[in-house]
Amino acid sequence: MSAMIILDVIMAGRIPQNFIDDLLTRTDIIDVIDSYVPLRKAGRNHQALCPFHDEKTPSFTVSQEKQFYHCFGCSANGTAITFLMDYKGMDFVEAIEELASRAGVEVPREGGISHKDSGSAELYELMEMVVRYFCRQLREHAEAHRAIDYLKGRGISGELAAEFELGFAPLGWDNLLKDLGNSNASQERLARTGMILRKETGGYYDRFRDRIIFPIRDQRGRAIGFGGRVLDEGTPKYLNSPETPIFHKGRELYGLYQARRKLKDLDHLYIVEGYMDVLALAQYGIQNAVATLGTAVTPEHLDRLFKVCPQLIFCFDGDAAGQNAAWRALEISLPLLRDGRQSYFMFMPEGDDPDSYVRKYGSKQFEDTSGYVPLSDYLLNTLRQDTDQKTREGRALLVEKTIPYLSRLPAGALRELLLKDIASYSELSVKDLKQLLQDKQQTQQKQQRNIHRSALKQGDSTLIGKAIRLLLHHPSIAELDKTSAELTNINVPGIEFLQELLAFIISHPDTTCAGILEHWRNSKFERRLNELASMESPLTEKHEIEAELQGIISKIKQTHQKKQRLARSQTISNLEELRNLYTADHTPDHKEQ
Ligand code: UTP
Ligand code: MN
Repeated sequence: MSAMIILDVIMAGRIPQNFIDDLLTRTDIIDVIDSYVPLRKAGRNHQALCPFHDEKTPSFTVSQEKQFYHCFGCSANGTAITFLMDYKGMDFVEAIEELASRAGVEVPREGGISHKDSGSAELYELMEMVVRYFCRQLREHAEAHRAIDYLKGRGISGELAAEFELGFAPLGWDNLLKDLGNSNASQERLARTGMILRKETGGYYDRFRDRIIFPIRDQRGRAIGFGGRVLDEGTPKYLNSPETPIFHKGRELYGLYQARRKLKDLDHLYIVEGYMDVLALAQYGIQNAVATLGTAVTPEHLDRLFKVCPQLIFCFDGDAAGQNAAWRALEISLPLLRDGRQSYFMFMPEGDDPDSYVRKYGSKQFEDTSGYVPLSDYLLNTLRQDTDQKTREGRALLVEKTIPYLSRLPAGALRELLLKDIASYSELSVKDLKQLLQDKQQTQQKQQRNIHRSALKQGDSTLIGKAIRLLLHHPSIAELDKTSAELTNINVPGIEFLQELLAFIISHPDTTCAGILEHWRNSKFERRLNELASMESPLTEKHEIEAELQGIISKIKQTHQKKQRLARSQTISNLEELRNLYTADHTPDHKEQ
């Protein structure tokens, strides 16, 4: 996608919130989830084995009334939109488009950029201009030949440079600043993207100077940050954009956008360490490589990658640092390895990285799968290394060491096979091992549940919290106008939100719990609302619910009045204290005597 098209997509505007509110009233979460995870009716709710964690008895519960799912085991929860995002790996817009197509409606776009998003939209737009600025410098700047020679020297073709939109930041402190920062407002925006830095003496200077520039795009193709490499032996060798509102190193991967655009079906992905590794592999026709951005692999990275590709191959250096990084990647991979997903490791020979390796040995050898170590081999071989299998003690130790890893692996063929292998090494039966595994998992689940329960109790401990939960679970309660009127002029923490919520429900009488959650998605209330939505509602009868709400409202009023009385008497007693102080002032101090 060219920069211009990306800009058009952003300019096309966001989806009106009203459309999302309406779309949810036309959607049934039961249909949506059931088409991926078959649901079974159980009482008021629907149930299934949780698709987000491994379990034997169903904790995954979907409520038609709330239009909300919640797992008691792993706390996964959300609306139909959240489900599509978390289960299918869609982004927010893709999830809306999916629901719209199920409902047979078109997704409208707002003409302009809305208020809510304008902050980020502005930054994305600016980053697009920065990409073009650096690309232009690589073509036109008087010193650009140095950058071009450097890239040629490293075997990067003009075509590849164009595909990855490589650029050049010329020598000097204010090149970008002069080009794109000609007003206070534009300087402030450039500073927010980290492209310019504030001088102690006032004013700004360019972050990237005399460097090759690697633009970083997110999965949707938006420019979010940059990497820059020196042209010589200077330090630091690489400079990266700092964390900004639109750039998070722990989540983004260099090259993922390009790989997904080139290859519609990604059946395997290489994870490498450097920008130049991605480019070198692409130069050799291996277009499915991505790099972390100077950080170790994170769970967010792998979650994102597994959502678009079932097989990951980690490329690490063969040295001790590489081994450590690989073990970390293994630990992060384990919980994500549902059936069908695979992790492999590839260790580079001493002194090589994927860039130098592919240039020396060619793409055929790089892609030769016989050199890849499957995660399960890596796991077992490492754990077996320092246990003596000739003694019972050694074999017991091996079992002790492996069970925690297995317990993090979802149930499935891989875990069964590993169990078999461990059984034969340890001379325990598979059945015994399973029992040990189950015990381990049960204690883990219990711990999780307790953490979850106490978090929930806290969420519901205030009257306002109780009122919000009732409304969230049962937005169709009658006479909300009256309730809202009763609460005016009452001043307790959280009341503004309760009033906003009432106003929203009054103006959207068809809304559900999910409708409310979606309305406040990405707001500071999102997490708390999700917690409250996850709780079980003991009431089912409409009149009971209404009476409960009325009870809470009058208690809120009482508390408010009590506080006011207290404040009044506080002022009175303060006055008395003051008077006493004045009189005391004239009595002689004992110490002085
Ligand atoms: P490497 O030092 O392995 O560099 O860093 P490289 O990718 O092989 O680079 P060349 O081949 O010398 O050009 C790997 C990655 O670590 C981050 C960068 O993301 C780099 O691509 N890094 C490295 C930094 O952020 N800063 C540095 O100073 C060095
Ligand atoms: Mn390198």
